[in-house]
Amino acid sequence: MFSKKESMLAYGLAVCLLVTGVVSYAAFPLKAPEEPLRIMFNVEAGKVLFDHKIHTVEEGYGLSCEDCHHELLDGESDEAQACGECHDPEEGDEEVPKRADAFHQQCAGCHEDYEAGPVEEECTLCHIL
Ligand code: HEC
Ligand code: HEC
Ligand code: HEC
Ligand code: HEC
Repeated sequence: MFSKKESMLAYGLAVCLLVTGVVSYAAFPLKAPEEPLRIMFNVEAGKVLFDHKIHTVEEGYGLSCEDCHHELLDGESDEAQACGECHDPEEGDEEVPKRADAFHQQCAGCHEDYEAGPVEEECTLCHIL
């Protein structure tokens, strides 16, 4: 267990980081959203950890932004949006799938094309936690 002093220290540090975060955020409100490193999707069926960075960097899988952010035109990478901006969590159809279907189709579809990475039936390779 942690001693009380250690807990206080950790708590103090957390508060400092929070304040720094809020101040930095407030100071640079116009900055484009940071490209994420890793994204954890909290799904009841099991959390999905998506390594955004490794999918994009050259030493990783070297994919282009618009391979996934299909709303982007060439050279517009600053404008990437969350999928949920357009894909409703509840409602979708054949053409514009609902949010979770959009993920399943895009993630698993590309893995199938590349014959690498988890495909649709391999639920637990994505829903790991
Ligand atoms: C393999 C697919 C993939 C590639 C390639 C990719 N992204 Fe993403 N990106 C995602 C997913 C999935 C999300 C999470 C979207 C969500 O939460 O709805 C995301 C989220 C983001 C976000 C946060 C958006 C927000 O408002 O929450 C930014 C910014 C972003 N990506 C930028 C980029 C840039 C710039 C590139 C190219 C260098 C890139 N992405 C390449 C899949 C990808
Ligand atoms: C600016 C709005 C917008 C954003 C943001 C967006 N989509 Fe879409 N998406 C659409 C529309 C509109 C369609 C249907 C027409 C088309 O295919 O462009 C679509 C179609 C799709 C389809 C089915 C057609 C196909 O391409 O196979 C998938 C899968 C999909 N989106 C996944 C995603 C994912 C994953 C993200 C986030 C990384 C995302 N979309 C972000 C608007 C958006
Ligand atoms: C445009 C193509 C593409 C899309 C879209 C894509 N991936 Fe991948 N993914 C790959 C490739 C290529 C690999 C490399 C597999 C290898 O080299 O073994 C991979 C590997 C993986 C792996 C196994 C290695 C690791 O990083 O842990 C996981 C898990 C994964 N992807 C999750 C996802 C999820 C979740 C999404 C959707 C949010 C997604 N991927 C979307 C191309 C894609
Ligand atoms: C390539 C990775 C991947 C594979 C394979 C995968 N999933 Fe998912 N799953 C996701 C992602 C990403 C989400 C979206 C999380 C979100 O909406 O925040 C998701 C969402 C879900 C959801 C919640 C959303 C909903 O309402 O539909 C369920 C349930 C689910 N998946 C079940 C499954 C099952 C069952 C399988 C196997 C047949 C499977 N998944 C295979 C990545 C994957």
